[in-house]
Amino acid sequence: MRIDVVSIFPGYFDALELSLLGKAKQRGVIDVRVHDLREHAHDKHRTVDDTPAGGGAGMVMKPEPWGEALDSILTDPETTGEPLIIFPSPAGEVFTQAMAHELAQEPHLVFGCGRYEGIDQRVFEEYAERGRVRLVSIGDYILNGGEVATIAMVEAIARLVPGVVGNPESLVEESHESGLLEYPSYTKPANWRDRAVPPVLLSGNHAAIAAWRQEQSIERTRRVRPELLPPEHRGESRGRHAAD
Ligand code: ADE
Repeated sequence: MRIDVVSIFPGYFDALELSLLGKAKQRGVIDVRVHDLREHAHDKHRTVDDTPAGGGAGMVMKPEPWGEALDSILTDPETTGEPLIIFPSPAGEVFTQAMAHELAQEPHLVFGCGRYEGIDQRVFEEYAERGRVRLVSIGDYILNGGEVATIAMVEAIARLVPGVVGNPESLVEESHESGLLEYPSYTKPANWRDRAVPPVLLSGNHAAIAAWRQEQSIERTRRVRPELLPPEHRGESRGRHAAD
């Protein structure tokens, strides 16, 4: 999978060199290319923003640097097919695990990280007319720009690309994969500060362990995220645990 990122802060994406994603990059499983938007601003100060048309607070990102940056990616001889362009935005559709799976099928994603009050609307219109564009939010809160949202999405998507996570089985039993939150996990020692690992997990009875985990998943989901359960299973919550 190829991923291009356009940002005025390319340094944010150094984080993608770490851990599993960094290793996948080194092995060539994912090909991440980060571009500095300011390379496409040609005045003395490399200006990428201007005051909003119609007045108001803040600054809006100018269309010209975005046009040049995105055109250079789309016309790159190594770009084949039609990349999907994603603009992280609090005004976009909400990113979910289902969307991560959908996007993990794409051969080429381009992330355009806006700052300030956003990007001139004509940029979205231009590229939506010429290809595929999605505005995507990572949740109902406001970040200073799209960089952190892009890192979150790239990590969630790339770990679903075959060959990125060593043991694909570890992807299956995670929160949101089954529509439920994940059950709690334990390791050794069997006792720590007078807190015991639940005995069923040490019983060796795989059916009983699976049943316990399923029950824990449902109960945790009911307590913390009842809206994820079908209405008939929401029932009475036993209250929030300190550990949730
Ligand atoms: N940019 C600013 N806030 C954002 C959010 N919540 N999701 C995606 N991009 C953003």
